[in-house]
Amino acid sequence: MKRMLSGIKPTGQLHLGNYIGALRHFVASQDEYEMFAFIANLHCITVPQDPQELQKNLKDCVALYLACGLNPNKATIFLQTDVKEHAQLGFIMCCHTYMGELNRMTQFKDKQAKGEKNLSGGLYTYPSLMAADILLYSPDYVPVGEDQKQHVELTRDVAERMNNRYGQLFTVPEPLVAKVGARIMSLSDPTKKMSKSDETNKGCIYLLDDLKVARKKVMSAVTDSIGKVQYDPENQPGIANLMQILSSLSNNRSFADIEEEFKDQGYGVFKKAVADAVCNQLEQIQTRYKEIVESNLIEEVLTQGAQKACLIASAKLDQVQKAIGMEIIK
Ligand code: AMP
Ligand code: TRP
Repeated sequence: MKRMLSGIKPTGQLHLGNYIGALRHFVASQDEYEMFAFIANLHCITVPQDPQELQKNLKDCVALYLACGLNPNKATIFLQTDVKEHAQLGFIMCCHTYMGELNRMTQFKDKQAKGEKNLSGGLYTYPSLMAADILLYSPDYVPVGEDQKQHVELTRDVAERMNNRYGQLFTVPEPLVAKVGARIMSLSDPTKKMSKSDETNKGCIYLLDDLKVARKKVMSAVTDSIGKVQYDPENQPGIANLMQILSSLSNNRSFADIEEEFKDQGYGVFKKAVADAVCNQLEQIQTRYKEIVESNLIEEVLTQGAQKACLIASAKLDQVQKAIGMEIIK
C-alpha cells in the first residue's frame, strides 16, 4: 500500500478551503492509501497565538478531521508535538536548507511584503520543519492545496540533496494538488485566497459557521455584471470560484454540466444551489462534530495515533543521525 501524509495548521478555525483543498482528499484516500494526517501545532506558533484559543482550535481540528470522515482505524491521526522527532529532524533539515531557498518561499515573501512587523524566525524556517514532518514518514504522496505545493517541492529538493550526500535516506515524495478546488478564493474578494486571516470575515466560510451565516456569505458573494454562469476565472473570478465549490461538493460535477443547468438562470438561483450544497455539507460535518466533542474520542485517537507515528518517526530520525555521523551511544 502506498503511503500518504498531510497536515493542517489550525492557527484559527478550519474553513471550506481547508476542507475542499485538503481534508476531503485525506478522507477519500484513506481506503486506498496508508494515510497519516496530523495537526501541525508547531507550525501554529510561527505566528502569535492566544493559548486558550489555540487549545480550542487544536481540539476542534481533531474533531473536524473525524467529523469530515477520517476513520482512526484506517488513518493515523496525531498531534505534531506528541512526536518529538519532528522538531529534532526539523533542525537537521534546516541545516540542509539554503537561505536562498527559504527566501524564495512565496508565503513568507507575501507576509513580508504586507509590511507585517516582528515576523518570527520560526515563520521563516517553517518550510524546513514541514520537510521534516513529511520525510520522517517516507510518504509517496502529500495531498495539499495549491499554496503548499512550493513547500513540498522544497522538501523534495532537500531530500534529494541529503540522499546524494549521505546515501539513500529519504523517499522523495510527490505533491498531489487537485485540478479543481486546490485554491478556493475569498467570497468577498475572489482575487484573494480564502483564508483564516480574512479580516472582514465575510469571505471565509468556517466549517463550524452557523448555517444561516454560511448561507448569507454565499448569497452575498462578490460576482460580476456579465450575468452568465460560465467558467472563466480571468473575467469572472467570483463565479468561477462558486463553480469550483459546487463541483467539489457534488461529486466533482463537471463545469460543462453546471453551465448547462444554469445557462438560463440568474446568479441568484445559482448562488442558492451553491449555498444549499455548502449548507448540506456543513450540516453533516457539524452533526458529527457535536457527537465527537461530547465523547472521549479525541484523546483516544491522539494517544493511539502518536504511538504508531512515534515508532516510525524515531526509526527514521535514528537512521538520519547515524548517516550524518551524529550519534555515539546507539
Ligand atoms: P493551512 O490551513 O494553511 O494549514 O492549510 C491546510 C491545507 O488546506 C493545506 O493543504 C492548504 O493548501 C489547504 N488550503 C488552505 N487554504 C485553502 C484554500 N483557500 N483553498 C484550497 N486549499 C486550501
Ligand atoms: N504548512 C502547511 C500549511 O500551512 C501545514 C503542514 C505542516 C503540512 N506540515 C505539513 C502539510 C506536512 C503537508 C505536509 O498548510
